[in-house]
Amino acid sequence: MADNGDMSATLVQPPKACVFDAYGTLFDYSSAAARCSESLGPKRETLSRLWREKQLQYTWLRAIQDRHADFWQVTSDALDFTLETLELRSTTLHGKLMQAYMNLDAFPEVPDVLGRLKGKGIKTAILSNGSPEMLKNAVSNAGIAGLLDQVLSVEEVGVYKPHPRVYQLAVDRLGVERQAISFQSSNPWDAWAASAFGMRVVWCNRYNQRPEHLPGRPDHEVRSLSELPFLNES
Ligand code: LAC
Repeated sequence: MADNGDMSATLVQPPKACVFDAYGTLFDYSSAAARCSESLGPKRETLSRLWREKQLQYTWLRAIQDRHADFWQVTSDALDFTLETLELRSTTLHGKLMQAYMNLDAFPEVPDVLGRLKGKGIKTAILSNGSPEMLKNAVSNAGIAGLLDQVLSVEEVGVYKPHPRVYQLAVDRLGVERQAISFQSSNPWDAWAASAFGMRVVWCNRYNQRPEHLPGRPDHEVRSLSELPFLNES
């Protein structure tokens, strides 16, 4: 971000709720390929990157076409495309990778960060493209169910991020006005869209990505959720 000093002024008041993106922000999607590293060999990183890129493209394309299918379907279709592209023809790999995606690892700082937010009386939630079943499994696998007030899936509104209806879902279900919600995402396009919607935004730039040229502008950029600006304020 160009000017963190100025932007921190908008976060002087702690948020009433912290809403988190799931994949890439709380949960490490590369942990799926890591669990199949023996079968993937040197193609592991390329598979992880292409699978993610294609998965997101399919969400955007389906949203534009008004042909929603849930994230499990989209993730599976994107994996088919990726395995074909990389000429990985094992009959069992698709099933193994999907199973691993259902039970992704959380990033190491996640339980502590959520616990500290709860300790400050801040509501916590997930707002994700993930299907309810995918999110339930990831949350349970990470042992963080007790640290979240809400787990919200786009399935409730039937369209993917960055449609404004998705961000509105968090406002409606948490009962907190958009300006009092801090939204955390590692996806720059998601961070920019939530900001354009009117939420405060922390861009957790884990993957060292470039800023977007889209409506909106995150209030803060951090590398890990443990750097959330309001975490250490009394
Ligand atoms: C999500 C994807 C965009 O969890 O990371 O919504």
